[in-house]
Amino acid sequence: MQKLIIRGGARAGGEISVQGAKNSALPLLAGCLLAGGETVLHNCPELSDVFAACRILSCLGCKCTFRDNTVTVDSTVITDCQVPDGLMREMRSSIVFLGAVLGRTGECRLTFPGGCELGPRPIDMHLAALKQMGARITEDHGYLCCTCPRGLKGTKITLSFPSVGTTENIILAAVLAEGETVIYNAAREPEICDLAGFLNLCGARIKGCGSGTVSIEGVKKLHGCEYSVMPDRIAAATLMAAAAATGGELGLLNARSGDLQSVIPVFEEMGCGVFPYKDRIFISCKKPLRAVKTLRTMPYPGFPTDAQAVVMAALTKAEGTSVIVENIFENRYRHVDELIRMGADIKTEGKVAVIEGVGSLYGANVRASDLRGGAALAVAAMGAHGETCLENVRFIDRGYESIEKTLNRIGGNVRRIQS
Ligand code: EPZ
Repeated sequence: MQKLIIRGGARAGGEISVQGAKNSALPLLAGCLLAGGETVLHNCPELSDVFAACRILSCLGCKCTFRDNTVTVDSTVITDCQVPDGLMREMRSSIVFLGAVLGRTGECRLTFPGGCELGPRPIDMHLAALKQMGARITEDHGYLCCTCPRGLKGTKITLSFPSVGTTENIILAAVLAEGETVIYNAAREPEICDLAGFLNLCGARIKGCGSGTVSIEGVKKLHGCEYSVMPDRIAAATLMAAAAATGGELGLLNARSGDLQSVIPVFEEMGCGVFPYKDRIFISCKKPLRAVKTLRTMPYPGFPTDAQAVVMAALTKAEGTSVIVENIFENRYRHVDELIRMGADIKTEGKVAVIEGVGSLYGANVRASDLRGGAALAVAAMGAHGETCLENVRFIDRGYESIEKTLNRIGGNVRRIQS
């Protein structure tokens, strides 16, 4: 088990490049399956979830190599249609392989993904959409067995909620389906546009990404391509929160301010100066932080649920009372008890968290229980007096490249130890 030992107190400073987006790299890797040739993905973050996705591709018969943030996938030959149980359990988001495997091979077998640290992670919308496209899906002893004897057919699908994963799964299943598929109330996250950009470069015909209505004209075959993963907007928000929590200032290179249109105003309300340029963002948080009246997490372009925890970490020291309403996941406040151990004053009731700003936080022994909650504890520790021991670093490693290197590069004092 690995831990981080974080000595807080230094102001964040300097410039840092933002990593490639985990939540784009994963569906892009699933998309490589459809190319039927060699695809090269640059700016791919070095994360345990990315390695898990590469292992899934290899189990399905692809040749997959990862070197210096570039993944090369040769999906000419597919030898299996089953996603290994261990990998399904290790990474819930591997459900996004369902659409790609079905689209490429016409069948797929995978373990029913269990709930996870954020609460139940149902896939009812994924399955309903694929059934509408002609897939036959049965559950057998915890396994999902999916076939489409007459191939997948394009159709019109209206989502009851703009689910990111469901939108991605439909797109992946539709690019090689017969006819046109139209998704109404589609998710509008930038990662969806990244997936469409990649697949269109492989020869797909996808329109409307970023709007609520996406159309996919099925084609017979795709081909390989070379593509670069978009910058990680949540990693950028995490670094902004580190600047706010330490009263520092940072230059974020490769950050796309267009992806952070609902995040930047929150830091400005906190009293930070945020100066977006074409491919970088400068943030200065030298003034005492102010509370944020009400912060609601919403589907894109609203405030992202994935940035909720790290912003909360910064708000623990903001003058006044902040209110956060978590509208996306049921159980996304597991970092709260750990922040309270560090001296934060937070009360939660269902979706609502009320944060009373305190003068300072103090180092403590804390435990991560999910990816973004773990990042929030690291951000809080950067701005706390004294030393914090952060356990279960593996959760953070799922989504942040070398978290200790990143934090040390912006002025932190962070050591990773084996316990
Ligand atoms: C993606 O998860 C992201 N993961 C999540 O990031 C992110 O929090 C989420 O989108 C929302 O933006 C990846 O991209 C790998 P959803 P996903 O389907 O696709 C409910 C992180 O920290 N729902 O938009 O699972 C679901 O329970 C991760 O990087 C159904 O009810 O999110 C949730 O309440 C965490 N039935 C809501 O919709 C379904 O069939 C949003 O889920 C599917 C979803």
